[in-house]
Amino acid sequence: MINKLESALVSFKSEIASLVKQADVLNLKAKYLGKQGEISEILKSLKDATVEEKKLIGPKANEIKDTILKLVDETLANIELNEINEKLQANRIDISLTDDMLEKKNVHGGFHPRTLIRQEVEDIFLSMGFEVLDGPHIETEFYNFEALNIPGDHPARDMQDTFWFRDESSPEGNKHLLRTHTSTIQIRGMMDRKPPFKFIAPGTVFRCERTDASHEMVFQQLEGMMVGENISVSNLIYFMKQTLKEIFKRDVEVRLRPGFFPFVEPGFELDIRCQVCAGKGCSVCKQVGWVELLPCGMVHPNVLRAGGVDPEKYNGFAFGLGLDRLVMMKYGIEDIRHLQSGDLRFNSQFKEY
Ligand code: PHE
Repeated sequence: MINKLESALVSFKSEIASLVKQADVLNLKAKYLGKQGEISEILKSLKDATVEEKKLIGPKANEIKDTILKLVDETLANIELNEINEKLQANRIDISLTDDMLEKKNVHGGFHPRTLIRQEVEDIFLSMGFEVLDGPHIETEFYNFEALNIPGDHPARDMQDTFWFRDESSPEGNKHLLRTHTSTIQIRGMMDRKPPFKFIAPGTVFRCERTDASHEMVFQQLEGMMVGENISVSNLIYFMKQTLKEIFKRDVEVRLRPGFFPFVEPGFELDIRCQVCAGKGCSVCKQVGWVELLPCGMVHPNVLRAGGVDPEKYNGFAFGLGLDRLVMMKYGIEDIRHLQSGDLRFNSQFKEY
């Protein structure tokens, strides 16, 4: 019997070694240890054995049963482990970084050059004690023209080709338009505060104009205003030079020409040496070597009055910095239309921050 049991164990061992499915292992277990299993069948004849034989065979039979059970457990555990490993292998996500991916990892969005310049100019003015204001793109005639000393029949209205809204229901004098300049904020800013004050207002402006290398229909300005007692043209020139020096990180050649704007008296055009061609002449400066960058002047008394400021007591200066021109000068961009092109090859060159 012992021989039978041992040879049953040998054959069990050889059978289980080739099994890879849990169900097959369980069937094999039943085949040997089940009620009609091989071991059970062998043990059935135990009842005919002598006491001596039983003493010998009993423990041996238990030993063999234990061995079989242990082998079954081990095999089941191995099969389970293999199945898990197979699943893991099949659903494998490669989380390793390739060189290619490492390179791409460093590609992230950058700021548009307009944003870079605007932030830079804002910081410069903030450090000089100016507030930064904002205002609506859609304006009334009052803020865009009337309050700025440009009445309805004034020829200066033609200086700025305007996008008007069709608005038949609204009374004359309250027509809506897309603001043609940020000077609207001069009025809004004055109305909201008491002198002395100084603020800037960057923003988008709109003109119904033909576009070319230096003109866009939608562009950026930065308005500035300082109001107080005894403000002079030299204050104006000081702030302008200081700002340009900080932006270009060097002294930039400037020139002041008389300029006419109904809302300033006297009015000036501040030009800077073209930084794209270094003054030699190019499409940006229209071959003259200078670029109009900064119209400015002393605020007209009518404008102060419209903003609720007493012109007998206070005066001030205002300027309208052409932010897009400044971007072009700073980065040597030869065509203003690039700024609005949405072309990523252009935009991705400016990743300073
Ligand atoms: N608003 C004027 C323009 O857009 C610029 C300007 C602003 C001129 C402030 C003088 C003072 O043309």
